[in-house]
Parts: sequence; structure tokens; C-alpha cells
Amino acid sequence: MDKETLKAEINRLKKEKNAIILAHYYTLPEVQEIADFVGDSLALARKAAQTDADIILFAGVHFMAETAKILNPTKKVLVPDMSAGCVLADCCQASKLAAFKAEHPDYKVLSYVNCSAAVKALSDLIVTSGNALKLVEHFPADEKIIFAPDRNLGDYINRMTGRNMMLWDGACSIHDHYELEALKALKEAHPGVPSVAHPECRHELLEQVDFVGSTAAMLSHISESDSKEFIVVTESGILYELQKRNPDKTFYTLYNAALEHDCVNMKKNNLENIYAALQNENPELLMDEELRQKALLPIQRMLELS
Ligand code: 13P
Repeated sequence: MDKETLKAEINRLKKEKNAIILAHYYTLPEVQEIADFVGDSLALARKAAQTDADIILFAGVHFMAETAKILNPTKKVLVPDMSAGCVLADCCQASKLAAFKAEHPDYKVLSYVNCSAAVKALSDLIVTSGNALKLVEHFPADEKIIFAPDRNLGDYINRMTGRNMMLWDGACSIHDHYELEALKALKEAHPGVPSVAHPECRHELLEQVDFVGSTAAMLSHISESDSKEFIVVTESGILYELQKRNPDKTFYTLYNAALEHDCVNMKKNNLENIYAALQNENPELLMDEELRQKALLPIQRMLELS
């Protein structure tokens, strides 16, 4: 089937089965085009909590679909490619976090949403890059906190809020690999052009940019700015929405195909496997009910507080 036929078939199946497609901004343009809702992690979690569809097809990575299932136990959550994982989430194994917690019984666990359901179940509160600075304030200033799994986001929160959270040694394979020298070269090539970055980048890069924020925060910041050019330090999937909202603006990214600075997992979602998943109602994400209930509590706390 060609792309247009696939899109028409996907739309037909969505209607027929009362299905909704949620997609992250990092997915392929054609996936974002057929999604009912495109967002960052926080917006997608909120949307998953609100939908009255019978089927949620999640075009993102595994932990995002898990979050949708945790919030919607009676709904069918479909994942076009079960192998679309998250390198950052994989940095924190639940058994290791459980052992670490046992060694630090007086610590609370604050986890970034990019983690498995099993890690969420061990956490007191979940945050996304969009609400982390606000939600950490939910804990008293002297609270001892373990932050998992992203050391760069944790370091950013510590610096911005004066906290001293203990940081799990995990990182995103995309954002952690952007090089300071490459950013400096891009800035030199485009003098005076403002820059934005995702807080999963290393501190040395975040220091060099004008604005740090989640995917949605960067999109708003750029869209509201008068500047006609921007240097964008995050996954290149964001360019689709950026260009859509700002057709008159030019963007320069650190994306380098040769270095694979792009999230291959997000790009595993495509029209073919979305069509097949909707048609067959498979692969379906299933979850142990006890685990789901434990993982739900810190997500619910996040949604109430943010
Ligand atoms: P956002 O919270 O900005 O959507 O980030 C998601 C993510 O996985 C970044 O790597």
C-alpha cells in the first residue's frame, strides 16, 4: 500500500475500533500526521489519562505506552514495535534501584518518567522534564532524595533549585552525546542566533544555550519569540512540529546522521506497523495488575501536582 492509502486505512480503523493514536514529537512526520494527539511526555501522560477511546495506540517508546496502560487498565494499549525501548530507561534496572533504596532507607525516590513500570513502582513521585523543577519543590528543602535515572536532568534540577539529590548514573544516548565543540562551532557559524536545549543534555552544553526546557517548552519558547532563526539542541523529530508552527523560521540542529544523533527507537514507529497493529490489535502491552497499581501511585501524584 502507498502512504496515502495506508493513512486512509489507519483513519478507517481508528473510527471503526474507537482507537486513538498518541505520538511523541520525536516520531516520523507521517506518524505525527496521522496521530490524534502529538505531545511531549507530560502532555501524552495527561492525554492518556483523559481519553475515552477503547484502544490507545502509542507511537513512542515502551515506557510511554506503559504509562498509558498504567493509567488505563481496562483499555487495550497497542505498541507498533515492542522493541522500541529507551536507552535511558534501560540504565536503571528495578532490582538495582531496589537494592540501592534498601541501602538508603531514609531517602525518597524521585524518578523521571523515562523509566520502566517496575522502577515507577519503587518511586515516591514521577516527574517529566516539563514539570520537574516545580514538582521537586513538593519535597521539603532538607528531604534526602535519590533521582533516577537521568544524571543530566537531575544535575540540572539540583543546580536550578539548590537541591542536593543523589543522582542515578543514567543518560539519554541522544542528548548526552551532543558535543560542546559541535555546539560552539554551530554558534560561531550563526552568530547571535538564540539557542535552546533539552535538560537531558550535559551541563557544559546547557550553560551555553539561552533557553533550557522540555520538548513542549522549547516549542512554545521558539514559537513566541521574534527571532527568525534558532539553534536547537535536541532530537531532530522536533523539527516537524517546529516548522509546522513556524514556517518562516530557520532551525540549525546538532543532528549528524553519520553519528546517529537521532532516536532510532522513536523512528521504529511507521505507517506500516501502525496499520498492522490496529488491524490485528496486536502487539498489545499487558501488565501485571499488582505492578500497575504500585506504579500508578507516583504517576497519579504527578498528575495531581502538575
Ligand atoms: P519530553 O519530556 O521533553 O517529551 O522528553 C521526552 C524524552 O524522552 C526526551 O528524550
